[in-house]
Amino acid sequence: MLLAVLLLLLPLPDSWSAYGHPLYMRLPPSILQAVLSTQGTQALQAAQRSAQWAVNRVVMEIQHRAHECQAGPGRSRPQAPLLQDPPEPGPCGERRPSTANVTRAHGRIVGGSTAPPGAWPWLVRLQLGGQPLCGGVLVAASWVLTAAHCFVGAPNELLWTVTLAEGPRGEQAEEVPVNRILPHPKFDPRTFHNDLALVQLWTPVSPAGPARPVCLPQEPQEPPAGTACAIAGWGALFEDGPEAEAVREARVPLLSRDTCQRALGPALRPSTMLCAGYLAGGIDSCQGDSGGPLTCSEPGPRTKEVLFGVTSWGDGCGEPGKPGVYTRVAVFKDWLQEQMGAVSSSREPSCRELLAWDPPEELPAEAAQLCAFYARLCRGSEDACARLAHQQCLQRRRRCELRSLAHTLLGLLRNAQELLGPRPGLRRLAPSLAHPAPSLRESRGHLARELWLHSGPRASGIRFQKPRPEQRGEANGCPGLEPLRQKLAALQGAHAWILQVPSEHLAMNFHEVLADLGSKTLTGLFRAWVRAGLGGRYVVFSGLVGLEPATLARSLPRLLVQALQSFRLASLAEGETEGPQIAVGQGLGRKGHHPLSPRIP
Ligand code: ARG
Repeated sequence: MLLAVLLLLLPLPDSWSAYGHPLYMRLPPSILQAVLSTQGTQALQAAQRSAQWAVNRVVMEIQHRAHECQAGPGRSRPQAPLLQDPPEPGPCGERRPSTANVTRAHGRIVGGSTAPPGAWPWLVRLQLGGQPLCGGVLVAASWVLTAAHCFVGAPNELLWTVTLAEGPRGEQAEEVPVNRILPHPKFDPRTFHNDLALVQLWTPVSPAGPARPVCLPQEPQEPPAGTACAIAGWGALFEDGPEAEAVREARVPLLSRDTCQRALGPALRPSTMLCAGYLAGGIDSCQGDSGGPLTCSEPGPRTKEVLFGVTSWGDGCGEPGKPGVYTRVAVFKDWLQEQMGAVSSSREPSCRELLAWDPPEELPAEAAQLCAFYARLCRGSEDACARLAHQQCLQRRRRCELRSLAHTLLGLLRNAQELLGPRPGLRRLAPSLAHPAPSLRESRGHLARELWLHSGPRASGIRFQKPRPEQRGEANGCPGLEPLRQKLAALQGAHAWILQVPSEHLAMNFHEVLADLGSKTLTGLFRAWVRAGLGGRYVVFSGLVGLEPATLARSLPRLLVQALQSFRLASLAEGETEGPQIAVGQGLGRKGHHPLSPRIP
């Protein structure tokens, strides 16, 4: 593959020159397709997902607010605290009868028995950039408990999502963005001491869906050694083996502190770790199961499953004499209650909250609530403190924007790297992307000037529609509902360009990249004209492109961002005038008459 790519990138003179002009070079169609278009489509998908999240969140806020208003005038609050909830709403730890008598004695994750769909309604899956990495356990409507080590090297909550449990008839599992990750402050990545983290979901789990919380231990006591408890997850079927395709489960006995200590030596810290499994080996959790549950049934009028352990580590998987190690949950009861019960003003607003915040549109009361954390220690007048908090919120929001952009770019870069094969130059380049702001800001202005939208004759299917404002409903008697509706309309308008594209058409197609060979920059990139299509429409913009694998990979993230921006601007421009547009700017002159630019067919 790498060889093929390298060959394709060798500058073959004639066929790549434009109109026989030797100074221009076209990227070959294979690169346009296999690299640019593939990555571009992923970028579009990511953009659509995040637009959808932003819109959904406001829709949920509207529903929540309307619900509160219906509940009675005295009950309406200025801001629905959507992201908090009591730690254990309603019943917990209940399994569906049809799925509860599973985990036969020989069931195991290593070696495995597949759990029936919906058997573990609290078991969730944690994904980093869409890639499943760990298990987790739903412990409240908005909270998932998992292992802190899952976030080592990947602490950015914007990149994580949680897939909830599927239903008993295989009903689709819901994927929810992560709002906040709270690793235990004393987690030690070297020893795995205190390997526990709370993850706050962006939206609470709907009681109508199949996901249900497990019970947390109410007392420090744990069931005695020998109690048969259950583990579940999608982890590997054997050490270094493939991950399971469906949830697997096993029954494992709790082992005594002494047995654990003897088996695992000083690495096991009995104060915060317990061990479970068979000294004979063969049945155990394994890689990918981390963060998942170890639950024991608590008898009573209704049997409840209580979470006593969170899968943490092991010495191999299912090895004789090496039981699996789980973080003790009971000893963290206070920390868990404290974190889940904390008022939102005690925590800095999360990046996701700040990015969903639309400062000019937002109600002052809403901003005040979001930014309350920064006003806590302020000693001035209420007004002055509110202003200060607002400023700090804005500042942090800018940092979050950069962080989200930098990570998108790094993600794209990593994908590009996979496609192009590891190149020595690439790794060195990655850190410089952590500060993409100046160049991107610059390129945005540049783009606005140079954007040039064609309405091709094949234009069909997708229409970039003028955003239609949302119908205004009657908001009488429900304060805050109307501004929320306006916010929804504004969001729908701002994201219309991507939300209106049906997912089957959501493909970015790089038609052509024409590089000016005489324009090599100090960093080895060339000025190029890029033509990219989305549906029947296409945009043309100028950007910098590398012509070797390493430089191409380096230039790719920025080109993709430029392409997205171009589609967005094109759609806005078209929305304003309802019709094909040519946005002509300085440097470009009239369509196709840029001094450097041969006409692109
Ligand atoms: N650390 C592993 C993970 O990240 C879990 C390993 C559990 N190993 C065991 N033998 N029980 O998924």
